[in-house]
Amino acid sequence: MVRVNSSRPEIYLDACATTPPGPAVIQRIMEVQQIAWGNPSSIHGPGICAAELLERSRQTTASCLMANTTDVLFTSGATESIHLALLGTARSMQPGRLVISAVEHPAVVAVAQMLNREGWEVFTWPVDALGRIKLEAVDSMLAPPTRLVSVIWGQSEVGTIQPIKTIGRACRDRGIPFHTDATQVLSQGLLDWASLPIDLLSASAHKLQGPKGIGLLLVRPEFLSSIQPLQCGGGQEQGLRAGTEPVALVAGMATALEQMKKLASDFDQSKQNQVSMVKVMRDALQKNLLTIPGLYFTGDQTNRLPHHISMLVGTAQNQPLSGRAVVRELAKLGLAASSGSACMAGQSKNSMVLEAMQVNSEWLQSGLRFSLGPWLIDEQMQDVPDLLQKAIYAVASVV
Ligand SMILES: Cc1ncc(COP(=O)(O)O)c(C=O)c1O
Repeated sequence: MVRVNSSRPEIYLDACATTPPGPAVIQRIMEVQQIAWGNPSSIHGPGICAAELLERSRQTTASCLMANTTDVLFTSGATESIHLALLGTARSMQPGRLVISAVEHPAVVAVAQMLNREGWEVFTWPVDALGRIKLEAVDSMLAPPTRLVSVIWGQSEVGTIQPIKTIGRACRDRGIPFHTDATQVLSQGLLDWASLPIDLLSASAHKLQGPKGIGLLLVRPEFLSSIQPLQCGGGQEQGLRAGTEPVALVAGMATALEQMKKLASDFDQSKQNQVSMVKVMRDALQKNLLTIPGLYFTGDQTNRLPHHISMLVGTAQNQPLSGRAVVRELAKLGLAASSGSACMAGQSKNSMVLEAMQVNSEWLQSGLRFSLGPWLIDEQMQDVPDLLQKAIYAVASVV
C-alpha cells in the first residue's frame, strides 16, 4: 500500500524541482486575482488598478533584490529568462563565441545549440571532479572572439556553487556580457544585485515557494537596448516581452521574495532563520546517511547549495544502481526525491553533469538528489536514512 498522497507526498525532498507555495503567497494570488483582474495596459479603472498592482509588485521585487525597478523584467520562468538573456543578447551582435559551463541546466544547453545553428561557436568551460569551474582556464575561455558567457550559479543536480563573482569580474574586465542562471541560488537567500558583477540574471518563482508560470530576468540598464525581444506584439516589459502581464502571479512572486526578506531580518534578530535551519537539517541528514553503504556524495561539499544533498547510489558491494529506480521505490515509501535535474527526470539518459565531472561511466545513471525546504520537520528527517536503505535493498534485489 502506497502511503503517499499524490498531491503532497509525506516527505518532500525535491525542492530543486519545485516547492510548495507558501500560505501568504496563495492568499496574495487569490486577493490580486479578485481585485486586479484588469489588463494593466488598459486606461480605465480595472486596468489602472492592475497596472498599479503590477508596478507595486515590481517595486517589491526590485527592493528585495537591491535592484532598480527598470532592471526587472517579468517572464514566465527561468527557461524563458535564459532564452531572452542569451538569444536576445546574441542576436543583437555579430556571431562570435558563446562560453557556457559544462554543468548548465538543459535550458542553457538548448539555447547554446540554437545559437550554434545561427553561426555562433560554443565553447564549454570545463569543471573538475567536484563540478567546479576550472578557473585556470579563464584566459583561454574569455579570449576573443568570446562575446557572451553564461555560467550557472548553483548547480541543481550536484549542488556546487560556482565562484560567480570572480567569473563576472573577469568578464567585466574584458567587456564581455555575463549571464548567470541563479534559479537554485535565489531560493537560498536574497541577492544584492547592485553589488554583483553580473549583467543578466535568470530565476523562477516556483523554486522559492512562489507560483509557477512566473520568473524574472534582471538586466543592467546598459544592456536593455541590446536585447532583441523573442516575442513581439504589445510593448510590455519595456518592449522586450510582449503579452499581457499575469498580475496575480507577479504579486505571488513578490510575496515569496518578501517572505524571504522577512526571514532574513528575523535571522538578524535571532541569528537563525529558515534557510539556516534547513542547512542544519541538511547537515544532520547527510551525517546520518553516512551509515548507508554504497553511497557517495557528489559535488563540492564546501561551496554548496545549503539545502542540497547529491549522491551516487550503489549496492554494499559497490555495484551502481539506477537512481531513477531508487526514486521510484522511495516514492512508494512516501518520500519524494529526484535522480537529477527534474527536466531530465523523464528521460533515462546518462547525466551530462556527472559526465562533465568525469564520473565513471557505469555510475552516470546512479545520481540521487535530496533537496530540502522549511516545510520539513525533524521527525520526518529521522525516517529518511531508513527509507533510503529500504529503497536501495528493493532495487538491489532485482538487479
Ligand atoms: C538551474 C535551473 N535553471 C533553470 C531551470 C528552469 O526553470 P523553469 O522550469 O522554472 O523555467 C531550472 C528548473 O529546474 C533549474 O533548476
